[in-house]
Amino acid sequence: LHVAIIMDGNGRWAARRGMPRSAGHVRGARVVRTIVAAALGERIDLLTLYAFSMDNWTRPPAEVAALLRLFRRYLLTETRRCVEQRVRLSVIGRRDRLSPQLLAAIERAEEATATGSRLHLRIALDYSARYSIMEAASRSNRPSDMQEFLRLINEVNHASTSAPRDVDLLIRTGGEQRLSDFLLWECAYAELYFTDCLWPDFDASGLARALADFAGRHRRYGRIEAAAARRN
Ligand code: FPP
Repeated sequence: LHVAIIMDGNGRWAARRGMPRSAGHVRGARVVRTIVAAALGERIDLLTLYAFSMDNWTRPPAEVAALLRLFRRYLLTETRRCVEQRVRLSVIGRRDRLSPQLLAAIERAEEATATGSRLHLRIALDYSARYSIMEAASRSNRPSDMQEFLRLINEVNHASTSAPRDVDLLIRTGGEQRLSDFLLWECAYAELYFTDCLWPDFDASGLARALADFAGRHRRYGRIEAAAARRN
């Protein structure tokens, strides 16, 4: 199962406590650890987390800097745990605008966890689905081959060593009901799950509730019910 999560609500979580937004992000990073551990106990083999969008660069410089520091620290501290838990960690998105320090941390984490086979954790950094689609289109020689196109999208996002995968379940915390330029192509047939829970308050039981809801959905992929039943 490929689960993708838009981790929204860190800022509001902090504001409600009179804390700076960056404190919400720090708390959010802790929840990332919790959810990765929880995913290991669920039938999830691919987990893609939206950590930083191309549009997030327009946030106040201090917040951007705090987030980028947090990502680097997460990569440095979590690599060992990922190796132990047999989690493969990779980062998708653009790489041409990240600092050499962050790039080095990404490469080290990816290399050290490359053989992880229990769960593939992908963190989206400087990511934009539209940018990926436009870049893939400009590289494509076979415009009607959808598998090839998905492969090119992966290539744009530096995820070309992974098999291209559609999203099965997209979760968004924080109460908004939108996709915010995340995995637009891969979500063509994704089931969407929205919760008001702010990301720093999200936990294993929240993930379990989303998965239980997903289990009750009838996925038809444009077919009629009976055909879908035979397919499953
Ligand atoms: C959205 O909340 C969250 C982000 C833009 C950043 C996501 C980052 C984390 C969860 C922290 C660490 C992640 C990793 C992978 C270590 P928001 O700031 O938009 O919240 P708001 O909508 O309440 O303002």
